[in-house]
Amino acid sequence: AGTGKLKKTVVLVGMMGAGKTAVGRALASRLSVPFLDSDAEIESAAAMTIAEIFARDGEAFFRSRESEIIDRLLRGPCCILSTGGGAFLSARNRDLISAKGVSVWLNADLRLLWSRVKNKDTRPLLRTPDPYRTLRDLFEARTPIYAKADLAVVSDASYTIDMMASQVIAALATRPDVL
Ligand code: S3P
Repeated sequence: AGTGKLKKTVVLVGMMGAGKTAVGRALASRLSVPFLDSDAEIESAAAMTIAEIFARDGEAFFRSRESEIIDRLLRGPCCILSTGGGAFLSARNRDLISAKGVSVWLNADLRLLWSRVKNKDTRPLLRTPDPYRTLRDLFEARTPIYAKADLAVVSDASYTIDMMASQVIAALATRPDVL
């Protein structure tokens, strides 16, 4: 793929554990464009972790920061933008994203997502008595919304990050308005 030729910001969406951050970094380096991550931007602006923001200010506060950050980043130079798993659920965020960028859903099955998130303590939404059930409920509720993304690639346990980046590039290559 060409370098620095992105015509729209590529916004990676999908569940926690789908690989948005890892694939986003690989993609940005392959395309020679900047990588940004909405969760990381929120954390650095607040000088707190996502878990601390949820605990201190609540999810609604986090969601409003998330929306502001996405809006701001989409106004900047074209980049690869990884979002938190909840970002694409908001109709306002989806409108912001489709106005300036192209959305790509990293579609991973529940088993793979669980294997990646189960031993981490960084996701406040999974701090429940039955985190597997919580993840499953989120997965079921969110899948039809992620399916609204412009493009989708399947994430399988056997795929490397680089293979995932290649798949995304192949999907973007079908869009002359993007690549
Ligand atoms: C969330 C996903 C997290 C983070 C926050 C909420 C969600 O991001 O934004 O914990 O609603 O799915 P990742 O998808 O990067 O884990």
